[in-house]
Amino acid sequence: MRRSLVLVIVLIVGAGVVLLNSSRAAITGSSHDFSTANWNFGGEICQPCHTPHDASLDIAGSPLWNRQSTSATFQLYASPSFDGSSTIQQPSGTSKLCLSCHDGTVALDNFGGFTGGNNFAFLQVGTDLRNDHPISFVYDSALATKDPGLYDPTTQNSGLGSTIHMDLLHEGKVECTSCHNVHNESGADYLLVKSNAGSALCLTCHNK
Ligand code: HEC
Ligand code: HEC
Ligand code: HEC
Ligand code: HEC
Repeated sequence: MRRSLVLVIVLIVGAGVVLLNSSRAAITGSSHDFSTANWNFGGEICQPCHTPHDASLDIAGSPLWNRQSTSATFQLYASPSFDGSSTIQQPSGTSKLCLSCHDGTVALDNFGGFTGGNNFAFLQVGTDLRNDHPISFVYDSALATKDPGLYDPTTQNSGLGSTIHMDLLHEGKVECTSCHNVHNESGADYLLVKSNAGSALCLTCHNK
């Protein structure tokens, strides 16, 4: 091969590697990176939420959870046109994990068995969820049949590789993680699972 051609190939491959690296969003440096928070004495990123051993079993199915969990009772979303009202429950699974910081009842520093913390998240959804998008209710084909303003989650593409059911629901339910990625893997604003520019996130499920 001619030397200039080799050089061009090396440059193209090199640029590709740089692009790949810079486009991969992650928790590091995001608003969930507490490694430099003054209440996080260990300075680790994962530890305020996870531990490899002695994890809390308070919330069923939680991923090696290292935090005190919320014991609040929540006021649930209700509206006459809401068709999920027959299955909506107290926050379940992954939503309860989020609320263990974002309902404002559990201190950020209450992890690793410590419960005397006094630093709180300032972005709180609180314990009154009547004014928030409904969570912890079943979103299945039957709901989409009942409400034609919804796509069928088992067949509609989420834009993230598979269906709404596979990519956005947790055990068939809408949860906080239907819209947010706690580890900032998409890099979208507000830790969203995908950009909401032009309401793209809303229009993933709502056929409006
Ligand atoms: C602010 C809290 C928080 C921090 C910090 C955090 N996580 Fe998580 N993690 C969660 C929550 C909540 C879930 C469950 C929701 C989900 O699966 O997206 C989860 C789920 C997971 C899972 C299982 C599901 C999956 O995504 O594969 C793994 C593995 C994981 N986290 C690894 C990590 C690692 C490694 C770190 C540190 C680099 C970390 N997390 C930091 C909150 C956190
Ligand atoms: C360890 C406690 C903790 C957990 C668990 C946690 N968060 Fe957060 N989150 C925070 C803090 C602290 C901030 C920074 C702002 C503040 O102080 O409220 C934040 C910021 C955010 C933001 C704003 C991001 C931005 O850049 O604008 C969103 C959205 C968010 N969290 C959603 C979630 C969701 C959804 C979950 C569960 C999947 C979750 N959080 C779990 C503590 C937590
Ligand atoms: C239907 C999608 C959706 C669901 C479900 C959802 N969020 Fe959000 N969230 C958003 C969007 C979009 C934003 C961006 C700001 C805005 O539009 O208000 C946001 C913003 C936030 C913020 C930061 C700014 C603010 O307005 O307070 C926090 C914290 C947050 N969400 C936490 C949560 C938690 C905790 C849950 C579960 C209890 C949750 N979200 C469920 C879509 C959602
Ligand atoms: C993961 C899928 C999903 C996403 C993403 C989503 N929604 Fe929803 N949303 C639903 C489902 C399912 C319902 C329940 C609809 C029903 O039964 O009436 C709902 C309910 C609602 C309702 C209440 C309807 C009522 O009758 O009370 C409004 C308003 C709404 N969503 C707006 C939004 C907006 C705005 C966004 C974007 C920020 C959004 N949704 C993102 C699935 C989603």
